[in-house]
Amino acid sequence: MKALVTGGAGYIGSHTVRALLDAGHDVAVVDDLSNGHRDAIDTRAKYVEGKEVNDLLSGDHVLEAILRIEKPDVVLHFAGKIQVGESVRYPSAYWNVNVVGSLSLLRAILARHKCAFVFSSSAAVYGAPPLERGRFPKLTEDHPTLPINPYGDTKLAFERALAAYARAAELPWAALRYFNAAGANVAAGLSERHKPETHLIPLVLDVARGKCEAFTIYGTDFPTPDGTCVRDYVHVMDLADAHVLAAEKLVRTRTPLGPLNLGTGFGHSVREVIDAAREIAQYPIPTIYGPRREGDPPVLLADPSRAERELDWRATRSSIEQILSDAWHASSRR
Ligand code: UFG
Repeated sequence: MKALVTGGAGYIGSHTVRALLDAGHDVAVVDDLSNGHRDAIDTRAKYVEGKEVNDLLSGDHVLEAILRIEKPDVVLHFAGKIQVGESVRYPSAYWNVNVVGSLSLLRAILARHKCAFVFSSSAAVYGAPPLERGRFPKLTEDHPTLPINPYGDTKLAFERALAAYARAAELPWAALRYFNAAGANVAAGLSERHKPETHLIPLVLDVARGKCEAFTIYGTDFPTPDGTCVRDYVHVMDLADAHVLAAEKLVRTRTPLGPLNLGTGFGHSVREVIDAAREIAQYPIPTIYGPRREGDPPVLLADPSRAERELDWRATRSSIEQILSDAWHASSRR
């Protein structure tokens, strides 16, 4: 199978490129390196060089040309803007890149090279799910989608366009809704490197390493057992495996998979993650209590049974200890 991976130099993209290559597939990468890292692209993959060709907003004709040259069986579309807080301050950048750019890519595929399509979506499409009968629900794919920030809006908007265009054109597609991606591929030297870093686990480990003095917990008054937010952390290598399985199945069956939740179904609070990080790093990790961060839902938990069934996939590396240990060892190398 030949895969074209947009955003293949980014965090989840680079791990997926590696997993595709390890499974014996050919991979070409498109990435403008605005957030990705050139050294994260596996040397076995082809990097499509050139400023214009790596910009999703360059126009359909440019993307059509890449597709004509690369002739992929599947496009895995990771490229996009990913910071919730930034999306609130600069919504137009999010609508432009995540929706206008993605639509351009989709149009090019439909016009020139009808191949399978795997989209990087997010649990942000669910917004802040309320308590149901006194408990926070494990979210299935048909749970109401009510995003609470422009990032989630843009992910959902493109998912909807993809579903409609794909139905009309019989395009095999999947939208993989990630819960909290974390961890690293230590052996491959890959890790989470965002600029700026806003995610819990890399920030906690920065404090453990002495790069920052203390970690700020955003909110201790949520309706959860210890007052801090609960998230469903899933190892990035498990996510990468799910992409390979989804791409292979779409290419093999030519049948849409639709939206699939990628998580474990189990949650950890911010305090629990910090405690586990203290064990792994053997460092106290001082904390400060700050106010809630705007747009943070109290609890996000996946019901991953549809992905497990459709892809014969299991999150096998996603214990919080394994995630933290891999993140810690991968970042120690940098
Ligand atoms: N947190 C802190 N302090 C920090 C950073 C994070 O307390 O300095 C807390 C957050 O408030 C949240 C938890 O740690 O409760 C996890 O935060 P992350 O930023 O690591 O992850 P998010 O849950 O905010 O983000 C994830 C995905 C997004 C997705 C979002 C949906 O990374 O892509 O879930 O809400 F949009």
